Amino acid sequence: MKFGDLRGILQYVPQFRGRTFVIALDGAVVAGENFSNILLNLAVLRSLNVKIVLIYGAAYQIASLADKRGVELSNPDATGPTDAATLELALDAITRLGSDVTRDLTALKIRTVTANALSAHPAGIVRGVDQGHTGKMVRVDHEMLRGFLEQELLPLVPPLGYDGSGHSLRMNSDQVSVSVGVALKADKIIFVTEEEPDFGLDLQSARQISADQGDVLLKKAENDQVSPGLHSKLKQAIRACREGVSRVHLVNGNRDDALLAELFSNEGIGTMVFADDYRQIRPATPSDVDEMLLMMRRAVEDEQLVERDKGEILERLQDYQVMEIDGNVVGVGAMHPYPEENAAELACIYVKGDHEGQGYGRELIENLEERAKSLGVSSLFMLSTQTAEYFTAKFSYLECSDLGQMPERRRKKWEQNGRNARFLVKRV
Ligand SMILES: CC(C)(COP(=O)(O)OP(=O)(O)OC[C@H]1O[C@@H](n2cnc3c(N)ncnc32)[C@H](O)[C@@H]1OP(=O)(O)O)[C@@H](O)C(=O)NCCC(=O)NCCS
Repeated sequence: MKFGDLRGILQYVPQFRGRTFVIALDGAVVAGENFSNILLNLAVLRSLNVKIVLIYGAAYQIASLADKRGVELSNPDATGPTDAATLELALDAITRLGSDVTRDLTALKIRTVTANALSAHPAGIVRGVDQGHTGKMVRVDHEMLRGFLEQELLPLVPPLGYDGSGHSLRMNSDQVSVSVGVALKADKIIFVTEEEPDFGLDLQSARQISADQGDVLLKKAENDQVSPGLHSKLKQAIRACREGVSRVHLVNGNRDDALLAELFSNEGIGTMVFADDYRQIRPATPSDVDEMLLMMRRAVEDEQLVERDKGEILERLQDYQVMEIDGNVVGVGAMHPYPEENAAELACIYVKGDHEGQGYGRELIENLEERAKSLGVSSLFMLSTQTAEYFTAKFSYLECSDLGQMPERRRKKWEQNGRNARFLVKRV
């Protein structure tokens, strides 16, 4: 993103003001060359009044220290057993890392506090293996964290838990980040990772995935070459969505302005995993109709869509579906059944200009086609003035010159309105 594009950034400022973001840094990102840039991004977010809680993983630092001291780790990232030697290393590496991050944030005039916010107990024996000093989360002290945020302090949460009986426990930072985000009812959790969040999807599909799509991907990732780090983050992101945090981002911390570029643009640069009610296609309701008409006015003026009045839409409202993102309607489409002809028409398909090109049109069309198929129709058709190519190239519709194949009452309308729209048909 070009930072000359202030207008683009400014539209997000009111949305983010006063929001709570949990930012989870991989230890490798903190050790990387781009970290000073990430810190500046954090400072920008804070200056916009975003409340930030920072969690840092230390797998990279623990592995480096193990190398240096010639210690063999019992587990690299607290997803398995932690023996006494590994705990010792983890305590040293995490403490040192926390101190470095505090130093760097202080240099940016950000006041921090290291928060002892995780109550845990020993994970015990899992699948027959004693987990030693690995902890299992019991509770996040969210009141404490809120208190710090209200004092405009930035809480740093190390991946360590305590059980009140004298045990220090090593925690997995991905799990900690989600537990903290859920407990705080955070608006976003952002994993800043050491690698591209590459799940083998094409670029457009990879930008935003629903928790349900994430489940499918997770299964696939188990067989594919997805790194354990990404696998763990995707798994935790899905958990966060199911437990109330509607958006979780994965961004490559080696990218320039990784956080800002992800957050201040429609497309982003990483992957956003969203809760299923964050983006959905749902039946239109009477209260959507004014918004639908307003949204489509431009396309009607450009003769892409036929003009419809409120009464007409309300009369066949059950045919309309809307695409909603974060409570805002950004697209619409209709499927009008013609039961006598065993056919259905797709109509009034529209995606708001600033949301085009992200696959929403496809999602709407596929949804309408599925609805038509569930009625058992044998043919789908559409009338298009300016998007015939879209439907023929992307959805296998064929242009048909025989208007006799159109349901008669629809043909009469076609003849009356003089739009001369192309007749496109698809057999199902
Ligand atoms: C047509 C429309 C619904 C597509 O929505 P969208 O969310 O941008 O579509 P998608 O993201 O699924 O698909 C984008 C692809 O379609 C192509 N496309 C979009 N409009 C097109 C058109 N009029 N003709 C040919 N291709 C088109 C894009 O170039 C892009 O191609 P790519 O994937 O190869 O890069 C949207 O542009 C729109 O609302 N247009 C105005 C209203 C209209 O004409 N509706 C159809 C009549 S019912």
